[in-house]
Amino acid sequence: MISLNNVKKSFQDLEVLKGISLSINDKEIYGIIGSSGAGKSTLLRCINGLEAYDSGEIVVDGVTVQTEDKQKLRNLQKRMGMIFQGFNLLERLDVYDNIALPMKFWGIKTGTPEADKKIKELISLVGLEDKLHAKPRELSGGQKQRVAIARALVLDPEFLLCDEATSALDPEITKGILRLLQDINHELGITIIVVTHQMEVVKQICEKVAFLSSGQVLEEGRPEELFVRPGKQEIRDFLRDRSEKLPADGINIQLFFNGANNYDPVVTQMARTLDTNFSICWAKLEDFRQSVYGSLVINTNETDKERILKFLDENNVAWEVID
Ligand SMILES: Nc1ncnc2c1ncn2[C@@H]1O[C@H](COP(=O)(O)OP(=O)(O)OP(=O)(O)O)[C@@H](O)[C@H]1O
Ligand SMILES: [Mg+2]
Repeated sequence: MISLNNVKKSFQDLEVLKGISLSINDKEIYGIIGSSGAGKSTLLRCINGLEAYDSGEIVVDGVTVQTEDKQKLRNLQKRMGMIFQGFNLLERLDVYDNIALPMKFWGIKTGTPEADKKIKELISLVGLEDKLHAKPRELSGGQKQRVAIARALVLDPEFLLCDEATSALDPEITKGILRLLQDINHELGITIIVVTHQMEVVKQICEKVAFLSSGQVLEEGRPEELFVRPGKQEIRDFLRDRSEKLPADGINIQLFFNGANNYDPVVTQMARTLDTNFSICWAKLEDFRQSVYGSLVINTNETDKERILKFLDENNVAWEVID
């Protein structure tokens, strides 16, 4: 488990992390999302000990991350694979040698049959068998990212920290990389932290997510809770949620379908049971890993408002009247 307790960090006068507390369970895929400059990379670098924090505490599997104790930090860093924003591959080395690099760095002999087996296994895990001796410049963005993932796994880490692993990639390639990260999580049992500004990443693979804004955790929870029904305006703005073109007249009510009642014909039942009409002004359905979550906005009048809300309550549909 990784836990952060009131972590603060400043660069000169700029307070970049303003008391971050969160906890990441073993074998979880945990997302950290937020806009540019929110402090995501800094936070990840503090967890990994590449950057020192000023106060608070970061504990990884019972060990406090402290940059002062170099030996202790090195031992911890060895257990954490890191994928950097940008791929950070060495141009002069081919795919094989880029993946072998951490072994060299840690003084592990690379010419041995064991090392060779490990590297080749990883190359096939990330699907680059035919690129063994290609140089980074001969690879596409998605392929470079696969090399970076294999390199991060070469020392059998327990944790994988990914900084914007997919933000430079097109949607199809992104899906492939996300599937790979999920496989790594399932098959190797590795805890993964993904830092991203892409909602799609969080929706597709994260079991839990923290929304970071100006160095603070605005909300933390399951993606489907946080994003289908975002409480905070700032998160709504980030998601560009809901239409700004809702009718100005009448009452707008947003309904939330949470997976269990997705396919119940609640809306048509409501119209019939209450013998009323309303218009549907906005709707969306979203995929969260295995489940589909949805919400829609109906427009009705003051007279029907209370009856509709009562019906929704009786049918266990969450709602919110939009001002
Ligand atoms: N080494 C540094 N020295 C001074 N300021 C820094 C340093 N690293 C980051 N910052 C500042 O800290 C703030 C947070 O940066 P950080 O890179 O953590 O943001 P981010 O959320 O990862 O953004 P992005 O989505 O653009 O990658 C920014 O205002 C940035 O300018
Ligand atoms: Mg960043």
